[in-house]
Amino acid sequence: MARIKIALLPGDGIGKDVMDAARIVLDAIGLDAETLEGDIGWEFWRREGNALPDRTVRLLKETDCALFGAITSKPKGEAEQELAPELRGKGLQYVSPIVRLRQEFNLRTNLRPCKAYPGNPLNYKEGIDLVVFRENTEDLYSGVEFYPLPAELKSTLVRLHKAMKRFEAVPDDETALSCRIITAGASRNIVRDAFEYAKQNGYKHVTVVEKPNVLRETSGLFLREARKVAKDFPGIELKEANIDAICMWLLKNPRDYGVLATSNMFGDILSDLCAQLVGGLGFASSGNIGDDYAVFEPTHGSAPKYAGQYKVNPIAMLLSVKLMFDWIGEGEKAKALENAVARVIADGKVRTYDIGGSHSTLDVAKAVAALV
Ligand code: NAI
Ligand code: MG
Repeated sequence: MARIKIALLPGDGIGKDVMDAARIVLDAIGLDAETLEGDIGWEFWRREGNALPDRTVRLLKETDCALFGAITSKPKGEAEQELAPELRGKGLQYVSPIVRLRQEFNLRTNLRPCKAYPGNPLNYKEGIDLVVFRENTEDLYSGVEFYPLPAELKSTLVRLHKAMKRFEAVPDDETALSCRIITAGASRNIVRDAFEYAKQNGYKHVTVVEKPNVLRETSGLFLREARKVAKDFPGIELKEANIDAICMWLLKNPRDYGVLATSNMFGDILSDLCAQLVGGLGFASSGNIGDDYAVFEPTHGSAPKYAGQYKVNPIAMLLSVKLMFDWIGEGEKAKALENAVARVIADGKVRTYDIGGSHSTLDVAKAVAALV
């Protein structure tokens, strides 16, 4: 029997293209693993009213970790319209399956490295080496949202908070509300993971990114917990930055930063910025990591306009496979894969359109596979 079981969840659009690239590399590297394919994504929402069918959840529970491509998510109205006719009007709610996976499997840490590999013509500057630790289960993504605003909730908020008085006269159907839920435990966990990573990988500081001057309670709590955690890591400096300022500083002096730790929404935004500093979404890998399960995926989405064309860059996916190797304890294979990716980038002979080349997704995967 294979040592580990990996679920492959291609999903939608270019998720399928880059998953095929991952398969080429997985085959070449000779991992002692069994792979099992799972259904996820928009077509299952349309046909079954559930983008993450129960059978997929069961499949995941039988595996050690998953590799995920990408999914398509559309706003509420469109989601309802695209449902199979017999499923419409039944009150089915579309929930992003990747957000559900993160919450249901408590994949609390989103690890997003952004490294400028030498020879990548898209590097904003050479030597950039950023790693975003994004809290993955709460904040504005908790899913606690209201529209129209329930009268009972509004009257309670007006009673409890004077800042709410301003909105009292606005009609309920002209008001939407999202709850930014931040807990001390989740804040400590993400900051601790960031410090542990910094310690293991030789980074001298961790920058905690929030907005405590305005979001006094939620960012305030996050930052207080971060300061407590930092005390356990005497050799590593805690730096603090506001989300708006760090966007400016990262563009100005990206090499001054290394490990960044933040909450869910800010981490989502920050990691796209960091990705663009090192060549864009085609280079941005990620791991959704919990205590006993993890899902690895490129940061990008399903890029519908490129779906099925095998045009997009598979490097984000291949670097996600590298993160998966690290997590399953295959450090040597992880290193070999990263070195192979770095060589293909540096050689510059096999490149997808985003780097100015005309090779296919699978050509790049084959070039990497030949070097692992
Ligand atoms: P996207 O990431 O799918 O694509 C944006 C643009 O980035 C593409 O049009 C393309 O120009 C470029 N790009 C993305 N991946 C690339 C790659 N591997 N190589 C080269 N260029 C690449 O984001 P978009 O267009 O905002 O969203 C499309 C769909 O994906 C939406 O339905 C969205 O909800 C979903 N999405 C899913 C995510 C996930 O599965 N985790 C994450 C982000 C978006
Ligand atoms: Mg994003």
